[in-house]
Amino acid sequence: MPSHDLVVIGTGPGGYVCAIRAAQLGMNVAVVEKRATYGGTCLNVGCIPSKALLHASELFDEAGHGFKAFGIEVPAPVLNLPQMLKHKQETVDANVQGVAFLFKKNKITAYRGTGKILAAGKVEVTADDGSKQTLDTKSIVIATGSDVAQLPGVTIDEKIVVSSTGALELAAVPKKLVVIGAGVIGLELGSVWRRLGAEVTVVEFLDRILPGMDLEVAKQAQRLLGRQGIEFKLATKVTGVETSASGAVVSVEPVAGGDKQTIAADIVLVATGRRPYTDGLGLEEAGVVTERGRVIIDDHFATNVPGIYAIGDVVRGPMLAHKGEDEGIAVAEILAGQHGHVNYDVIPAVVYTYPEIASVGKTEEELKSAGIAYKVGKFPFTANGRARANRTTEGFVKVIADATTDRVLGVHILGAGAGEMIHEGVVLMEFTGSSEDLARSCHAHPTMSEAVKEAALAVEGRAIHI
Ligand code: FAD
Ligand code: NAI
Repeated sequence: MPSHDLVVIGTGPGGYVCAIRAAQLGMNVAVVEKRATYGGTCLNVGCIPSKALLHASELFDEAGHGFKAFGIEVPAPVLNLPQMLKHKQETVDANVQGVAFLFKKNKITAYRGTGKILAAGKVEVTADDGSKQTLDTKSIVIATGSDVAQLPGVTIDEKIVVSSTGALELAAVPKKLVVIGAGVIGLELGSVWRRLGAEVTVVEFLDRILPGMDLEVAKQAQRLLGRQGIEFKLATKVTGVETSASGAVVSVEPVAGGDKQTIAADIVLVATGRRPYTDGLGLEEAGVVTERGRVIIDDHFATNVPGIYAIGDVVRGPMLAHKGEDEGIAVAEILAGQHGHVNYDVIPAVVYTYPEIASVGKTEEELKSAGIAYKVGKFPFTANGRARANRTTEGFVKVIADATTDRVLGVHILGAGAGEMIHEGVVLMEFTGSSEDLARSCHAHPTMSEAVKEAALAVEGRAIHI
């Protein structure tokens, strides 16, 4: 029977990073993956392909609408969708092959097949041909991720009614796309197909988009996305979707009650969240406790069964790749006798629309409901020289600091490149920095990042350029 120090089940960002860190620390590590390629949801059907299409579609949109003002006259761009999808696939292939290379480099044994926990220390792997083998191991890390949450009464066929996976490979631009859910997937993939020419309507149950994000940022983002032609139906629930050979009819009604309405669509994207995935993992038989599908862990990623740990989308916390990666590193270090740790107060979140929406730490709403007194500094990109030069003046930076100590509690950015700029806030908050620290850090001119410094200056009412 093959024997290892650690068997990681699942090779998404949580699992593969955990395996590499454990191998670096001298463990004999194996991974088990049932998908044909490594990298999990993120690399195969999530973060990476969606960003490949977001970037390509943004360029297409710019070529169509954005160049003229810079004095660049080009004929209307022509979409070559198969080539755009090829670019996406090449990006995915390069990334998943990169993980395979890293496994080899770190001498990690990879087993292709479905992993099932027989008991602490024993993982059964069933290959595609049905053959089985059992691995002996000191520790097991569950990193089996998440899957699309089904919407009651709506059947996803990945042709007309699609999940994010189907929406990443539509063979033609839909004339009309209805997106159910104004969360991250709905806005990102809605943006891709809107830019490529689809009429897009987003139906959201709540009275706002992007629940959990700072409300002021979300409202402004909705206005900007609306200007790009995305229609929002908020406080509206979907009561059914009927499909035919030619498309779908989506029935909706106001959450508060009122007239029912139908919307015809070629494609319907269901983007109402994801659920932890533990199907066939044998958790019940092995005695591992779950709650509403999530594997329950303590502060050290340990489940209730000694020797079995869990990380990533399958446990509590935001379903984000980098959160899973950091948990993977932390649990590997704990298994090696070190003090691995994740600071859950400082996990950035980025929505890769145009403009990008990025956030770290607390929102104003969270601080209000926790009764914490705070100060806010804001700075709009309209007053930033580089933003003017780039014609990227939409949006603003908001820095929130503790009213008494000045410690920065949250940074929220709506703007081009927000997903890069947010890391100023991340590093500052990791070192418990104050808005004064940020305001006194020299920022290169002319950069969009100067708006971050100005927002920090604005906390004490001394921004220079506004
Ligand atoms: P996963 O990536 O889901 O990997 C789990 C792996 O385990 C899978 O490969 C699965 O095949 C395997 N597995 C499951 N059960 C078994 C078993 N029994 N035996 C063997 N293998 C098994 N997050 C971001 O941070 N940034 C983004 O830009 C972003 N974009 C996204 C876009 C989309 C369209 C989607 C759907 C998600 C996106 N996410 C993004 C979320 C991100 O993909 C997840 O948070 C991340 O993949 C979770 O990592 P994980 O390792 O926990 O699980
Ligand atoms: P989400 O949780 O972000 O958004 C789901 C939205 O659907 C919410 O606004 C919710 O109120 C709404 N909703 C739920 N039920 C509904 C109903 N019946 N009718 C109408 N609206 C309804 O989930 P999403 O967008 O599916 O993404 C899943 C996960 O993937 C998220 O947790 C996210 O963290 C991750 N992800 C991250 C990305 C990033 O970091 N850039 C990109 C894409 C996904």
